[in-house]
Amino acid sequence: MNQESAKKNAAEEAIKFVEHGMTVGLGTGTTASIAVELLGNKLSENFQITGMPTSIETKRQAEKWGMNLIGIDEMDSIDIAIDGADEVSPSLDLIKGLGGALLREKKVEKKAKELIIIVDETKVVERLGVGPLPVEVGTENHDSVAREIEKQGCRAKLRTEESGNAFVTDNENYIYHCYFPEGIKNPEEMDARLLSIDGVKDTGLFINMATKVIIGKEKSTEILE
Ligand code: A5P
Repeated sequence: MNQESAKKNAAEEAIKFVEHGMTVGLGTGTTASIAVELLGNKLSENFQITGMPTSIETKRQAEKWGMNLIGIDEMDSIDIAIDGADEVSPSLDLIKGLGGALLREKKVEKKAKELIIIVDETKVVERLGVGPLPVEVGTENHDSVAREIEKQGCRAKLRTEESGNAFVTDNENYIYHCYFPEGIKNPEEMDARLLSIDGVKDTGLFINMATKVIIGKEKSTEILE
């Protein structure tokens, strides 16, 4: 499969749902960035939108197109959000955050009346937890927070840069990648358990949030809703 064409096909399909005058949550990652480019390129007198970026990286990208932008706290409800995902389950629950922007992504996407997820076929799984679940934690006592996380049945590994230094998120937190040997049996319950741990800021589990998942293939797309 040509992953680039698959991602592009999904992004092209997703932006068809964006109408003039809408406020749009702008996702982060390689797939979402294609949608941001397409939206930027489409801007004209008759097609103006207001973007709410989910990361500093996406904000910079949208600024280059001269898109109107607002901050996360400037609006409680937005029309639509478009973002990628790391894993998508049959019930449209997601793992997100391998790009490191999960906290802002969740904040923005919870406000969206419609959340469109764009992925290629490799992201579709039977059970979430095939790969790591990113969990964002405060930097204070993060080691002991990680030990608490591990009590939920996973191995938690601090995300680092190539230099070996800890990766720091836009919100100045750390991320632990949590590996569940048999996947995540009950994502909703796991999310609640992880969020109840002191020091956990958010998890990459996006439960009951996606309204549409567009799966890009080499020459077509499939929409799950
Ligand atoms: C960013 O933090 C993530 O949630 C991304 O949306 C996710 O990792 C998908 O990224 P790609 O489209 O680059 O695979």
